[in-house]
Amino acid sequence: MSAHTSPKTKQIALVTGGTGGIGTAICQALEQSGFTVIAASASQAKAEAWSKQQKELGFNIEACVLDVSDHEACKNIVLDLEEVHGPIAVLVNAAGVTRDATLKKMFVDQWQTVIDVNLTGTFNMCRSVIPLMLERGFGRILNISSINGQKGQFGQVNYAASKAGMHGLTMSLAQEVASKGITVNTISPGYIATDMVLAVPEDVRKKIIAQIPVGRLGEPEEIARIVDFLAGDGSGFITGSNIAANGGQHMQF
Ligand code: CAA
Repeated sequence: MSAHTSPKTKQIALVTGGTGGIGTAICQALEQSGFTVIAASASQAKAEAWSKQQKELGFNIEACVLDVSDHEACKNIVLDLEEVHGPIAVLVNAAGVTRDATLKKMFVDQWQTVIDVNLTGTFNMCRSVIPLMLERGFGRILNISSINGQKGQFGQVNYAASKAGMHGLTMSLAQEVASKGITVNTISPGYIATDMVLAVPEDVRKKIIAQIPVGRLGEPEEIARIVDFLAGDGSGFITGSNIAANGGQHMQF
């Protein structure tokens, strides 16, 4: 039983994009650490099927439907979930989409959708939970960014801008709430074996894997364990950080 676990102090963790590749591993890790976990998914059908599948695997994780780009919906779901389950201690912003194209071929809606979900979605969720976390003097926010927010990527001006923006948000918000018991951190995964990465054309993907010094894609669980660590009560001195997990593909001083 981890430090998080105690029947009376069971903490609530809300994971947007919780039914996705990395999100699922995050939900499972937090549940195993004793959190009550709620996964938010953009799709009703996905939420239902996923929740059922998790039960079959032995995880008790509820899934709800949420479009993170809808500010009012974010506000309402946070209030509704708190009424039913109690205070949200951990927010993980893992909802993310790609619409890859070179800039010269990119349509405005490809730019806008990626910014709306990845970046504005992170703002919407933080804006919804922060006033409640401030009242309680505790919170852990984890923003799942990307290696491509740090280094840029051919074909991803939209995605790289949104992911770099997430860390700008992290650093600013971390400063605003540091004295109130709330930490805000970014995790920047490299190429992880999820549907999102497997959707990259095989020839392009092979070239990318060849650039990863450890010689393979990462596993979602390798990201989840960082989230679990940062979500813990003992991680209160880490805030405004950007933790990279990319197999050595991009190293920064
Ligand atoms: N660097 C330099 N030149 C490149 C290049 C690269 N990495 N990749 C392609 N090119 C060149 C091609 O050789 C071609 O050159 P010519 O015109 O001289 O023949 C040209 O660029 C092709 O340009 P187009 O605009 O026509 O590109 P396209 O339409 O064929 O494909 C693309 C562009 C869809 C973006 C494709 O390159 C692609 O899918 N790239 C992968 C992008 C990627 O890594 N996405 C990550 C998704 S997963 C994720 O995002 C998760 C995460 O956080 C890591």
